[in-house]
Amino acid sequence: MSYLIINNQSHKVFNEDINKISAKVQGDILYLDPPYNHRQYATNYHLLETIAKYDNPIIHGKTGLREYQNQKSFYCSKTQVKKTFRDLILKAKVKYIFLSYNNEGLMTLDDIKEIMSSRGKYGYFTKDYHRFKADKSENREYKSNKTVEYLHYVVCS
Ligand SMILES: C[S@@+](CC[C@H](N)C(=O)[O-])C[C@H]1O[C@@H](n2cnc3c(N)ncnc32)[C@H](O)[C@@H]1O
Repeated sequence: MSYLIINNQSHKVFNEDINKISAKVQGDILYLDPPYNHRQYATNYHLLETIAKYDNPIIHGKTGLREYQNQKSFYCSKTQVKKTFRDLILKAKVKYIFLSYNNEGLMTLDDIKEIMSSRGKYGYFTKDYHRFKADKSENREYKSNKTVEYLHYVVCS
C-alpha cells in the first residue's frame, strides 16, 4: 500500500537514467528498486508511454510495441548489470543506500554484497512471498512456489 503525502516540502523529480544523475544529486537516502530480470519495462508500459507522448508511433509485433531501443535498461542485461550497479553505488552521494531485489535476479546475493559493502557497513532483511501467478507455466525457469525479497542496505562510511 502506498500513501500520497501532500505537504509544503520542496522536491525535485528527474526523468533520466539513474546512473547519469546520481553523481549530481546529494541526499540522505538512496532507495533503489531496479528491474530484477531481463524483461524491459518499456515493453510493459508502451500504452501509457503512447498516451503520455500522444505521438502516433509506428508499432511492431502482435502486441503493437512502439520502438524502445533508446529506453533499454542495463539493469535488465546479464552482461551489463553488475558493471552498471557498481558504477551507481560508487558514485552515489548519500549516507544510506537501500536496494530492493529478489533471490531470482540477474545479480546474485554475493554480487550485491561485494558491491555494496565497498561503501561501508552492509546488511539485509528478507521476506518470503508466494510466487506471482503469471509465472505459472510448464516451462517456467523457477519452479518454487515462493520467492524471497531482499532489502539490502549499506551505511556509507
Ligand atoms: C521494479 S520497477 C520499480 C517501480 C517503482 N519502484 C514502483 O514501485 O512503482 C523498476 C523501474 O526502474 C526503471 N528503470 C530501469 N532502468 C533504469 C535506469 N537506468 N534509470 C532509471 N530508471 C530505470 C524502470 O523503467 C522501472 O520503472
